[in-house]
Amino acid sequence: MQRLRIAAAFRALALLACAVLGQHALAQPPVHGASETVPRQQPAPQPSTQQQSARPSASPIYGVTIPPGYRKWQLIAPAEEAAPLDELRVVLGNPEAMEAIERSAKRFPDGAVLVKLAYKRKPSPDFEPATIPGQPTTVQVMVKDSRRYASTGGWGFGRFVNGVAVDAAQHQTCFACHAARVKDRDYVFTRFAP
Ligand code: HEC
Repeated sequence: MQRLRIAAAFRALALLACAVLGQHALAQPPVHGASETVPRQQPAPQPSTQQQSARPSASPIYGVTIPPGYRKWQLIAPAEEAAPLDELRVVLGNPEAMEAIERSAKRFPDGAVLVKLAYKRKPSPDFEPATIPGQPTTVQVMVKDSRRYASTGGWGFGRFVNGVAVDAAQHQTCFACHAARVKDRDYVFTRFAP
């Protein structure tokens, strides 16, 4: 009883604080990675390691940004791409995405975000047979928001080089390839690697 009352009071306080700040973080859960919600997601000052700038670069067409804190997300699977790209990749998921994977959901829920990090590959200087990540090449992001991105299977796409979104022409290719090959898996290629 007492605890309930404290919880209610706390929520009222939090809502009031949000109203005062002109934010709606509690009323409308933010879509991680979507441009206009990123600042709201992080009302407190951020450690400088997490974001390079106050106004992150947003992808054309979709308005997707690099989600803060993604580097601490869980690993879904690594991948490798042959020449000419010659890349190592890892795909990470935010907690919403991981939860959907854990319960083998057919579709990812709104709020799920997937990030693919790509690197050139190079031989390890310490152990010849090993291949290790070389220079980072791109960060690619998929954000699930079934209403906002209704015409592209519910996914918004973003591709970034050095933290900056690439041009619209490249963003026009994303959905087409994902839709042509993995439509029946909610447009997601990567399967969980246990
Ligand atoms: C020609 C096909 C193709 C195009 C075009 C493409 N992708 Fe992908 N994408 C893939 C494949 C294949 C994977 C699986 C991982 C891998 O092999 O790199 C993938 C994986 C991903 C993932 C991880 C989730 C998943 O589906 O496995 C993200 C995020 C992603 N792509 C974003 C993008 C964005 C953003 C664009 C457009 C700028 C894009 N992709 C364009 C083929 C494509």
